[in-house]
Amino acid sequence: MNSHVTLLVFFKTVFIVHACPVYLTLSTNSLIQKESTLTVNWGPDCNNQNIPAKIRIYSKNPYLYETPSLEEITPDNKNFGKVETNLKLGEIKFPRKWNINDQFEENIDYESDSYCLNFFILSFNHTNHVISFNCMKINPQWMTKNKELWLFPLKQLVIPGTHCSGCYMTTSNMRRRNWKNLEIFQQRFNVWQQLVLGIRYLDFSVGYFRSFHETLDIKGRFWVFNENHEITPIFSILEDILHFCELSKEIVIINFSNFVYGFHEGSGAHEIFKKLLQNTFGHIAVINMQNGKLSSDLTIQQLKTASKYVLILYNYNDLNIFNEQKETILWPQWNHNQINITENVANISTRFSEKIKSADMVNEGWILEIISKKSLKDIDNNFFIQMLNESLVNVISLNFAFLTNIIDISLNINNQRALSRQNFITIDF
Ligand SMILES: *[C@@H]1O[C@H](CO)[C@@H](O)[C@H](O)[C@H]1NC(C)=O
Ligand SMILES: *[C@@H]1O[C@H](CO)[C@@H](O)[C@H](O)[C@H]1NC(C)=O
Ligand SMILES: *[C@@H]1O[C@H](CO)[C@@H](O)[C@H](O)[C@H]1NC(C)=O
Ligand SMILES: *[C@@H]1O[C@H](CO)[C@@H](O)[C@H](O)[C@H]1NC(C)=O
Ligand SMILES: *[C@@H]1O[C@H](CO)[C@@H](O)[C@H](O)[C@H]1NC(C)=O
Repeated sequence: MNSHVTLLVFFKTVFIVHACPVYLTLSTNSLIQKESTLTVNWGPDCNNQNIPAKIRIYSKNPYLYETPSLEEITPDNKNFGKVETNLKLGEIKFPRKWNINDQFEENIDYESDSYCLNFFILSFNHTNHVISFNCMKINPQWMTKNKELWLFPLKQLVIPGTHCSGCYMTTSNMRRRNWKNLEIFQQRFNVWQQLVLGIRYLDFSVGYFRSFHETLDIKGRFWVFNENHEITPIFSILEDILHFCELSKEIVIINFSNFVYGFHEGSGAHEIFKKLLQNTFGHIAVINMQNGKLSSDLTIQQLKTASKYVLILYNYNDLNIFNEQKETILWPQWNHNQINITENVANISTRFSEKIKSADMVNEGWILEIISKKSLKDIDNNFFIQMLNESLVNVISLNFAFLTNIIDISLNINNQRALSRQNFITIDF
């Protein structure tokens, strides 16, 4: 690909951004993924010229099949808004290669970039002409396929992430016991699905059961926690991440953010966990030479060239507990800012600007973690688009991530950043 082709790709993206964006998100009204309903959103850029007259949802691609719409929404000249529908997401199936157990042939490029999950939306103008098309898309290889991004250090990209990445209900943990606090389930997609959809930063609170699960294999002793509730064993999630990275050659950042149970001094838990990480990810984890280099300065290109696809951030103030003089696969934390959206949403942008002023974001990677409550429906794409576009936020990590179209937003902003820094776009492939 030469750089002319690259620019055309950008113009296409910019054009889409300037149309009145219409997209689908997932409500949090059910703990079960397939029971969760869809929300239709439009905005924020819409103006009198481009606010759609109607938005319609279909269960089949209306360009390919003649099919009646399932629901019709009238934006009523509002320049942004959202309407919850009664349509349930249903079972999702990815295209061939991207389902976790798919067999496929290595050397065939299974086209999947524009693959839509279950539903399609079209918007129409007042004379009933289609003005936009959208769906919930998968983005299994956005880093690999957007070579314009390869020369950017990680700290200059927007990396969409989930907070409490392992906190979702599965059929088996539904049966396992009577959950008292259902608010601990803060995601609706499992980690594999999150990665296929485009998430590239994951965080986990981990607990270690020593005596309680004494008979268990080491692998069964580490659990995902949310605060003090254990949710599910972590090992199979780690295997899924490994499998995804090997398949996609994308770069995934994992933050082991808290060690909430069983990691007390003398427990040996950190050492055992580190060994488990080493055995699982040793061959594809980025190596920290402990020479003062920041992991946020690495570029996608450097990582891919070295065949390193997992960056493990380990939130332990003293990585030297492991007595390592040099190489380790664990990296120290990035800057971190948290906004707790339980507060009045109207004040978030003020708080956000204050955070930005106080954070030294230009020279280091930083994570914005947004915590919200299920009951609070106002996590708004308009907010993200403006905030992310105007700042240099690096990782954005969300619970209830798919209440927003965080992935599209991140990818658009990355393209805009690439476009405005053309000196980075110097490679011809
Ligand atoms: C709707 O879009 C069509 C096709 O672009 C255009 O010809 C028509 O004038 C538009 N109608 C209105 C009311 O803007
Ligand atoms: C990971 O998350 C924790 C807690 O959310 C945060 O304090 C920390 O800065 C993050 N750590 C890394 C290693 O990025
Ligand atoms: C967020 O704020 C609410 C209300 O102030 C508080 O109850 C909650 O514990 C906070 N959550 C976090 C993770 O800080
Ligand atoms: C939000 O902002 C308004 C006015 O700007 C202020 O009166 C109110 O106290 C703020 N609320 C919080 C929770 O900071
Ligand atoms: C992002 O900011 C640029 C320049 O400030 C602006 O031209 C563009 O429209 C903004 N994009 C979005 C999606 O808001």
